[in-house]
Amino acid sequence: MVIRKRYIFITVEGGDGSGKTTQSRLLSEYLVRKGFDVLLTREPGGSVLAGNIRSIILDPKSDIVPLSELFLFEAARAQHIKKLIYPALEMGKVVVCDRFTDATVAYQGYGRKLDLKLINKLNSIASVGLKPILTLYLDVMPFDGLSRAKGLNGKSYGYGGDRIERKSIRFHEDVRKGYLEQAKKYSRRIKVVKTQETAEKTHILVKDIVDKVL
Ligand SMILES: Nc1ncnc2c1ncn2[C@@H]1O[C@H](COP(=O)(O)OP(=O)(O)OP(=O)(O)O)[C@@H](O)[C@H]1O
Ligand SMILES: [Mg+2]
Repeated sequence: MVIRKRYIFITVEGGDGSGKTTQSRLLSEYLVRKGFDVLLTREPGGSVLAGNIRSIILDPKSDIVPLSELFLFEAARAQHIKKLIYPALEMGKVVVCDRFTDATVAYQGYGRKLDLKLINKLNSIASVGLKPILTLYLDVMPFDGLSRAKGLNGKSYGYGGDRIERKSIRFHEDVRKGYLEQAKKYSRRIKVVKTQETAEKTHILVKDIVDKVL
């Protein structure tokens, strides 16, 4: 009998300020309490190279055309997968990743309007075909998310933030549309989590979904 190794790879997605980092951390802590060996990581990141790429991408002073932006994200992803995510999964760890390939579809595809076929192809090359078993998409209205990300608690939406957060509300609405369409298309993998008024309440919804999958 061949026993197939089951990788437990979970990604957390959503617009800016939707609570990805908070929920990824709460989920990791929950999984550790349940006895899993967990690697919590984020994109772009997970290696020195990817961290450097992250600073270039998010620097408001960077003048990057959409195609270069796509390649930079994919370069960071290839490094992240090969150096960190894949080895951790092979060791039997649960990997929780704050953003992954769906973010590229939503931001570079729906936001920047790059060709979706090209994005899917590059996503699959960079991630060596590795797919999450579960993706939690944290849904929030862009205005609320951006205000939260800037610590304004919904008071106003102004300037500041990183290079991508500074894009127009329209851009962020396109990103949200991208995520929702992906969630519809891949409804078995992507679960929509309607973000609640507190992170703790949202975490309860996340736990329910994760418990059903694990
Ligand atoms: N459900 C929630 N209700 C209210 N505030 C929240 C909620 N979830 C997170 N926050 C707060 O909103 C801010 C943004 O959360 P967080 O950094 O987790 O979002 P993010 O999606 O990782 O943002 P970014 O896109 O900037 O990485 C934080 O100050 C966090 O404490
Ligand atoms: Mg974050």
